[in-house]
Amino acid sequence: MHVNVQFIDLKTQYEEVRATLDPAIAEILSSGAYVLGKHNKELENIIATRHGVKHAICVNSGTDALRIMAQACDIGPGDEVITTAFTFVATVEVVAQLGATPVFVDIDRETMCIDPAKIEAAITSKTKAILPVHLFGQMVDITAIQAIAEKHNLIILEDSAQNIYSHHNGVYTGNFGKAAGISFYVTKNLGAAGDGGMILTNDDEVNRRCLSLRIHGMGRERYYYDEIGYTSRLAELQAAVLVSKIAKLDEWNAQREKVANHYLSELADANLILPHTYEGNNNVWHQFTIQTPDRDGLMNHLKEKGIASAIFYPVPIHMHEPYAHFGAGKGSLPITEIVSEQCLSIPVHQHMTMEQAAYVAQEIKAYVGLK
Ligand SMILES: Cc1ncc(COP(=O)(O)O)c(C=O)c1O
Repeated sequence: MHVNVQFIDLKTQYEEVRATLDPAIAEILSSGAYVLGKHNKELENIIATRHGVKHAICVNSGTDALRIMAQACDIGPGDEVITTAFTFVATVEVVAQLGATPVFVDIDRETMCIDPAKIEAAITSKTKAILPVHLFGQMVDITAIQAIAEKHNLIILEDSAQNIYSHHNGVYTGNFGKAAGISFYVTKNLGAAGDGGMILTNDDEVNRRCLSLRIHGMGRERYYYDEIGYTSRLAELQAAVLVSKIAKLDEWNAQREKVANHYLSELADANLILPHTYEGNNNVWHQFTIQTPDRDGLMNHLKEKGIASAIFYPVPIHMHEPYAHFGAGKGSLPITEIVSEQCLSIPVHQHMTMEQAAYVAQEIKAYVGLK
């Protein structure tokens, strides 16, 4: 048997929403209202309501969301920000660009998120914030991180790029720190037709500064600037894509969960490390990431069988040349490093059939065997 299983199916996503999206696109193009208009507002309202936050601010990318919210929280030179090296580069990039120092803490093997038990040892008199990354569709161990932040008077900035609609016991991301940043990059659970992002915050002053920073630091008056900012408007065309898709997001996430649950039960006895979800967290299964010492062999086997897979992330951030001086080199984050060597993300998306999920699980079992 040979079945093709794609990693993501953007064409079918579009087909599912084109009846509402096509007229919205035509209307925007003929209206001439191209940026920060009613579709931006609608998207902000939908997400602020669902996440239960006071403010949602559309920006140009998830990276800009993190950068702008960190600047709005006064992260800058002299500050240390505790984070993970097992992440997409943007998390660390924005901290460095603001002149602050990223401090890496190792991760937990099974959740692949920052390990709260290792955070306190990294705190110094310069530590200003913890920047946890909610990874692959679930939140970090947020209660433990909140307790540490409170004890040491640190702010929390949530990297929620991969985690729209994530919550811990019903409290959604965006409510655990000063602000959270979401990405709408093409391949996210909610993806634009290009770049997009959003900041969530309950803090009025952070909201005020983010609104200003996304248009060059412009304050109450046009062409008067309060601080050095960015150009980070979200196009109305992108907001319309996102509004049309968000109507489907619960249904799409439910299908991701069905596929993930199938993998969890079918692969329970396979010779692999499976992803673990913390107690109280939902999981929106942005990725389903397994670990095996024979990762490259498994990846090749799946490829031969028509199954796409991907490595997130092959080299942790502290081992990339531009970031090396922030860390303590190879060997300093043993769990992060081994997970990077052994991780493989397998297809988990809303347009997979259960037959495809069964085929993927069967081919993995055939290759790795039982424990
Ligand atoms: C963990 C994480 N942080 C930040 C980002 C940056 O988001 P964007 O690609 O929208 O700039 C991403 C997305 O790729 C991400 O996965």
